[in-house]
Amino acid sequence: MSKRVTVLDFQAKFNKNEKITVVTAYDYAMGLAVDAAGVDAVLVGDSLNMTMLGREDTLSASMDEMLHHTAAVAKGVKNAMVIGDMPFLSYQLGPEQALENAGAFLTEAGAQAVKLEWCPRATEITQFLVENGVPVMGHLGFTPQQLHRFGGYHQQGKDKSSAALLLREAKALEKAGAFGIVLELIPSDLAKKITASVNIPTIGIGAGPHCGGQVQVLHDLLGLMPDFHPKHAKAYLKLHEAIRDAVAEYVKEVRGGKFPPKG
Ligand code: KIV
Repeated sequence: MSKRVTVLDFQAKFNKNEKITVVTAYDYAMGLAVDAAGVDAVLVGDSLNMTMLGREDTLSASMDEMLHHTAAVAKGVKNAMVIGDMPFLSYQLGPEQALENAGAFLTEAGAQAVKLEWCPRATEITQFLVENGVPVMGHLGFTPQQLHRFGGYHQQGKDKSSAALLLREAKALEKAGAFGIVLELIPSDLAKKITASVNIPTIGIGAGPHCGGQVQVLHDLLGLMPDFHPKHAKAYLKLHEAIRDAVAEYVKEVRGGKFPPKG
């Protein structure tokens, strides 16, 4: 049995310029599979609200749902770090609310860290969680829980002042003790600048190749969503079609009396 990836391994990889790999997973079987693939961390993202529950956006994911899925993933993942994603309104009220909910990811669901999106009190909350023993990954740029403020799925940090603000937020998260920062949907040059300006790993999604690592949504990697193909994702499989064809074959064989075989 190999040793589980920790925040120290994240930092060591970043220091050695080795790319960090993170992927989402939402259940036991997928946890087993992505862990066997050798990823450094498995994020149980609130993207499960769309990928697993068929909802419009991430906003309505509840703590109970996030804990339920994180516990299933954690059962399957023995080597990678499991990161629970804090859902909308589970931390924004302040450090105490955040600690109670973040703590549940570790004590009830078996995660080793949490991720939280930038909010006005993000640095204060991050510092409080870290000081109380909860490793925190920050999340900057396009933060999906602020979808309505952004007016849609738009790249962030495109002009000088918003780029400067993101750089300041990254430095503030580093100072608060975050062990890494997701950079989502920002220009590649800005991601490069932020990565060079902080001493903790940046993990990009739609932020170009210069980050300390990459995170992808598993359903995008596997081609599991027939009508959703984000520009920044690469489908390594056409799993929707593979499942459809396999099940269609089963239906055909049962109807045709070919399965189960006659004994
Ligand atoms: O919820 C999620 O899957 C995420 C990743 C896209 C970073 O936050």
